[in-house]
Amino acid sequence: MRIAVGSDHPAYHLKEAVKAHLSDRGIDVVDVGTDSTESTHYPKYGAAVGELVADGSVDRGIVMCGTGIGISIAANKIPGVRAALCSHEAHAALSREHNDANVLALGARFTAIEHALSIVDTWLDTKFGGGRHEPRVDMLTALDTRWKSSPKS
Ligand code: RB5
Repeated sequence: MRIAVGSDHPAYHLKEAVKAHLSDRGIDVVDVGTDSTESTHYPKYGAAVGELVADGSVDRGIVMCGTGIGISIAANKIPGVRAALCSHEAHAALSREHNDANVLALGARFTAIEHALSIVDTWLDTKFGGGRHEPRVDMLTALDTRWKSSPKS
């Protein structure tokens, strides 16, 4: 499996811990930055991870900022991305099982590193449930093109 990771400055240390954890699990990691705790802008990294997921360069993505909110909004702007902000293992499990989330978002200011790594593991180890969830995920995918082609419909 190949996973892209990205963060802004408050989540830099969490990103480094997530990277090491993914490598320990034998996962190939693509790091889009940031590379330090110097102030930067989360939309850049959310979009960069989202684009790699959307174009199939990686299987999934993990994005991190102070709250996880801004960077998940950025990732979700990329068609094909289903980013889920998770602060609990149950969120992570359900985001995979129900929503087939292909990007995990974490908030470094609110989630301790060990807890975040446990959320990552749950997210990686849970499969999409399919069945009744499938048409709903298809509806999410349809929204990717709906507003682009006909904004008022
Ligand atoms: C950066 O100060 C902060 O706004 C960012 O990390 C994130 O929390 C935005 O949603």
